[in-house]
Amino acid sequence: MSTEHTSPEPEESTTVSDDTVTIRVFRYQPEKEDDAEPYYEEFAVPRVDGITVLDALMWARDHEDGTLTFRHSCRQGVCGSDAMFVNGRQRLCCTTQISDLAEPVQIDPLPHQGVLKDLVVDMDHFYDQMHAVDPFFDPDELPDDPLEEQRQSPENREHIKLSTRCIWCGACMSSCNIAAGDNQYLGPASINKAYRFIKDEREGEQRRDERIEQMADDHAVWRCQTQFSCTEVCPKDIPLTEHIQTLKRDAAKRDLSLW
Ligand code: SF4
Ligand code: FES
Repeated sequence: MSTEHTSPEPEESTTVSDDTVTIRVFRYQPEKEDDAEPYYEEFAVPRVDGITVLDALMWARDHEDGTLTFRHSCRQGVCGSDAMFVNGRQRLCCTTQISDLAEPVQIDPLPHQGVLKDLVVDMDHFYDQMHAVDPFFDPDELPDDPLEEQRQSPENREHIKLSTRCIWCGACMSSCNIAAGDNQYLGPASINKAYRFIKDEREGEQRRDERIEQMADDHAVWRCQTQFSCTEVCPKDIPLTEHIQTLKRDAAKRDLSLW
């Protein structure tokens, strides 16, 4: 069972203290009752130097309510599992300092995704869109010797460097109005993944053409309306909108060459 994130009306904040930080957390626990309604719960968390949003959530879970549910793993901005909607913006909780935020800090699940429980959203659709672009190196030809290096020039590596940073957190997709309205839209992360391989000089012309053809589909690059929301929220500073626009040019050139 899941619910769309409906943002129930938050109640007035009750706890403001120098010693604690108040976090207001979205709760939804469908396993407790069939018609469970989402609500907000506040926790007063000890304010310590360097506390992040993830630290605060973990404190609340470990000291106040063991049923509070959210994803996390690496705690250093690498695994991409703890993207949430913090004070109205998609962020990685583990790299977001409480001291940089207005308080009380409101923590919601990623918008535009079904909520499974508390802050855990259903990522299946995001992963489907990522896998739709074959997110792996797939060259036209492989060397006879599988151990032979397939070298890339330093210039080409530099060119695709930013596009390789993606950690599959889903923040960009969650921020995108187009993705919210078009379930078939590939979305910024998967288009960026396609860009990463289209611009990799080692894949070869045939595979590049196939990938660009996929990008020319109605639900790929042409759906982007250059709103920049994805670029603004990406925690790895990937210039997603720029990459999408570059692939629009590649798709347009391909279409012109077919005439
Ligand atoms: S492109 Fe950025 S925001 Fe989107 S999934 Fe990758 S790391 Fe996250
Ligand atoms: S816990 Fe891995 S990115 Fe935040």
